[in-house]
Amino acid sequence: MKTGIKVFAPATVSNLGCGFDLLGFPINGPGDVVNAKFCDKPGIHITKITKGKMLPYETHKNTAGVAAYAVLEKLGKEKEIGIELEIHKKMPFGSGMGSSAASAVAGAIAVNYLLDEPLTEWELLPLAAKGEMIASGGDIHLDNVAPCLLGGLTFNRNNAAYDVHRVYTPKGVHCTLIYPHIKILTKDARDILSPTTTLKKHVEQSANMGGLLLGFINGDLELVARSLKDVIIEPQRAKLIAGFYDVQKAAMEAGALGCSISGAGPSIFALSDNSVIAEEIGVAMKEVYDRMGIKNDLFVSTINKEGAVLY
Ligand code: HSE
Repeated sequence: MKTGIKVFAPATVSNLGCGFDLLGFPINGPGDVVNAKFCDKPGIHITKITKGKMLPYETHKNTAGVAAYAVLEKLGKEKEIGIELEIHKKMPFGSGMGSSAASAVAGAIAVNYLLDEPLTEWELLPLAAKGEMIASGGDIHLDNVAPCLLGGLTFNRNNAAYDVHRVYTPKGVHCTLIYPHIKILTKDARDILSPTTTLKKHVEQSANMGGLLLGFINGDLELVARSLKDVIIEPQRAKLIAGFYDVQKAAMEAGALGCSISGAGPSIFALSDNSVIAEEIGVAMKEVYDRMGIKNDLFVSTINKEGAVLY
């Protein structure tokens, strides 16, 4: 039996423009590391949090804690087994990069690995989602949790029913992601959204989402480029992100297939078909924020097909 393990859960880009609350993929680099080891006191106990000063240590208030406890509970072991968690945040909060989802997934898989994997990743999905839900005020949207856990691009046909599917993406596709240090609360970025849209925009958005999925599945990146557009959410949220349209223009001029807001923002992502263009896009995006005097972090990555892993 293992005495302790360490897991990594990656940051994720969600929405992908036209797939609001439905699409997401993980990137390489930023994410959460969670260490788990057995202890004598039954239940889940958070003993250390680094780079996440405002995160609570109380298990039932912490996304990783709730997800980890949900795994123990699902196995009927919450009164029998004690586990200590250390959470090391290696990504920014409130950035649109799925920080709370990464913690929730890391908490769930850490317990599962420590107990020699009694549950499959599909069984872990609703348990990790429980953790993410406490950060999102009870809403279920799996566009960060699912790709973080399963790896690769995922499509949530129905969030409440956990009707989640993996979607093929061609080799070579790269993501350039810039995080400008601007504060946006996901709740605020959701509260400003109009609950209705026009029939014309609905048709356009549906067509783009169909085209985006088909483009990925068929390896048709020109179709991806024509479809990676958001006519409903992006126009409403862009005003929360200083310089958004300048960054988008710079990315497109540098050769991006498409560029939009990552999750609820403020991070902005662009897709491209190779690493050279991805790097050039990064330089162009960064130049805009540097010129504006807005601090920023840049990440260039392939689409991470593995998702959360034992470290
Ligand atoms: N899809 C969510 C939003 C963010 O854009 O508000 C992450 O679940």
